[in-house]
Amino acid sequence: MLVIAIESVCFDAFPILALSLDEDSYVVVTSHDDVDRQRYPLVMVFHEGRLSLSVFDVKQPLFVSVDFVSGRSLYRNKNKTVKNELLAKAVGLKASLEAPLKVVDATAGFGRDSFLLASFGCEVLMLERSPLMVALLTDGMKRAEAASEAVRIINRMRLTHGDAVNYFSSLGSLVDDEGFMAFRPDVIYLDPMFPGSNKNAQVKKEMRVLRLALGEDNDGEEMIDKARSSGVKRVVVKRPRKGKLLGGIKPSYQVLGKSARFDVYFP
Ligand SMILES: C[S@@+](CC[C@H](N)C(=O)[O-])C[C@H]1O[C@@H](n2cnc3c(N)ncnc32)[C@H](O)[C@@H]1O
Repeated sequence: MLVIAIESVCFDAFPILALSLDEDSYVVVTSHDDVDRQRYPLVMVFHEGRLSLSVFDVKQPLFVSVDFVSGRSLYRNKNKTVKNELLAKAVGLKASLEAPLKVVDATAGFGRDSFLLASFGCEVLMLERSPLMVALLTDGMKRAEAASEAVRIINRMRLTHGDAVNYFSSLGSLVDDEGFMAFRPDVIYLDPMFPGSNKNAQVKKEMRVLRLALGEDNDGEEMIDKARSSGVKRVVVKRPRKGKLLGGIKPSYQVLGKSARFDVYFP
């Protein structure tokens, strides 16, 4: 098992780390500068005012964080319309919708897709099972709240630490109307990690770190199975353009992009 080195300062700002990580999955260090990178290839650091995961890349450390403001996110979103954004099409966004579409992004990761959907006006509940990713997302959302151009988008996003499979299982039999369980989604969106590479350099870097930190996602079949029987009207799954169907289940239709596709199910 990979043991990650975590700078002690991270624990003060992000209590989820101490609360949710297995004790034998990390060691506490004072500074990433002192870490033996052979022994601990992955380090969580508080670097230049942001929480980051760091790997060593040939000669220098790479730092990966959640960035809704200065990274590609805002730029990407400014230039997108529902017509030319495949994910927006796949979740069924239309200008004529009376109420905002409610989407559960059950595999939040770096929050890129959630941010994109929220920038189109969707209300998004993000689920993420890795405490490391929840800490990174919390940090990214906090910084975005302080940026005037992103705050209205961030206000449409909520983050919950949890496992999608458990969440889907309880969606159908909801009795709790409090907190995040009161969120009744129109759409469930799944983007489990898939093998292969992405041509975009930044995404490639992020996925490399994610794979090192989390390994592959092996519960894709269970996720789609439970999502489809949760009572939700639409399930959307992101796959590599030529990748296998998740769980071997044929979608109602597909939205094809250059390197990825979205499989749309009406359960
Ligand atoms: C490929 S990433 C998603 C990237 C994301 N769409 C984005 O835009 O940044 C997959 C993420 O899903 C999370 N994940 C996988 N299975 C999950 C589950 N059953 N419940 C919650 N999160 C899960 C992983 O921890 C990982 O962070």
